[in-house]
Amino acid sequence: MTRYSIAVIPGDGVGMEVVPEGLAAIRRAAEVTGSYSIQTREFPWSCQYYLETGRMMPDDGIDQLSDADAVFLGAVGFPGVADHVSLWGLLLPIRQSFDQYVNLRPIEVLDGIASPLRDKGRAEIDILCIRENTEGEYAGLGGRFHVGRPEESAVQTAMFTRRGVERIARYAFERARERKGRLASATKSNALQYTAVMWDEIVAEVGRDYPDVEVTNYHVDALAARFVTAPESLDVVVGSNLFGDILTDLGGALQGSLGLPASANLNPERRYPSMFEPVHGSAPRRAGQGVANPMAAVWAASLMLDHLGERDAARLVMDGLRHVALHGPRTRDLGGTATTAELGAAIVSSIGAFPEVVSGS
Ligand code: NAD
Ligand code: IPM
Ligand code: MN
Repeated sequence: MTRYSIAVIPGDGVGMEVVPEGLAAIRRAAEVTGSYSIQTREFPWSCQYYLETGRMMPDDGIDQLSDADAVFLGAVGFPGVADHVSLWGLLLPIRQSFDQYVNLRPIEVLDGIASPLRDKGRAEIDILCIRENTEGEYAGLGGRFHVGRPEESAVQTAMFTRRGVERIARYAFERARERKGRLASATKSNALQYTAVMWDEIVAEVGRDYPDVEVTNYHVDALAARFVTAPESLDVVVGSNLFGDILTDLGGALQGSLGLPASANLNPERRYPSMFEPVHGSAPRRAGQGVANPMAAVWAASLMLDHLGERDAARLVMDGLRHVALHGPRTRDLGGTATTAELGAAIVSSIGAFPEVVSGS
């Protein structure tokens, strides 16, 4: 039996509330399959930790995570600590230090949960977003000058490297080849004449190795509209760090709630641990009431099992999630009254209990 060591960072706000439900689903799937066991090590790194220590994580925080088979994270950020301080103190350094250059975000409507798009369901909204996760607009390069003076200025430089664009493009073509063979590349080469033009050229070059994949460049503004007007025309979408960030919250909205979409931060070469989390943040106004939707965390847990090679367990967790999506209960964001813990328990008791549920993938 394989034993996995998972580093758990519950973080802040609803992150702390949904993480236990994701872990409960993984443990239940382990009981059902009997093929693995989970050992967790929890790290209290968060805004609370910052207020107590002046840091989001210790100096050797990245080292402490590096032995784990995977990292499972809730969300980071809470009023009282500036968002750029909390995120650049914890989440973004993990993505960069562990070279988690692929951010995989499936956007899929679950049967039973209505999309706000009239007449669009699972058949129409099934998009795999692949976001570059280590450079681009999030390179973290720039500075503030003459702060507080009339001549105050700020520079934030996007950095795109040939290696960075090529590897995310190749990853996206590979995924498109396994799906419907259609790749949409998010660009903005009409205005961004350096970075986006290079992005388009490299995507086209990589595309020569994938004659079986049909690639289309869309300016990201038009692509955002297409998510709403013709989501069925989209299969795999690849975009830069910022474009991917924005498009995937839009995707979550199309799924019916930000409480649903999940995110895998992958180092495909497995030189470092990968990290799994909901797309959503700490939802401060919803936190502390026990009403957050844990479905994104459970979905992220399934993505983690898939990455660890526990395919059957990953499918069982998704089947449990799909069963609850179809039959309820529901949390408040989806019009129900169930608590986070009640929804988590419903998913756990569905795992392995309904073999007739057919998994989507
Ligand atoms: P958010 O995702 O926290 O919230 C956006 C909306 O979605 C809110 O209406 C919220 O109530 C709702 N929502 C989010 N998660 C939900 C859930 N599980 N169930 C039901 N409803 C849910 O985004 P925000 O308000 O822009 O950010 C809040 C904080 O979270 C900020 O500090 C931000 O920097 C941080 N953040 C962290 C991460 C992360 O750690 N991965 C991601 C996004 C935002
Ligand atoms: C996400 C979040 C983060 C991002 C923030 C919190 C830095 O919005 O994971 O989508 O922009 O990557
Ligand atoms: Mn985001």
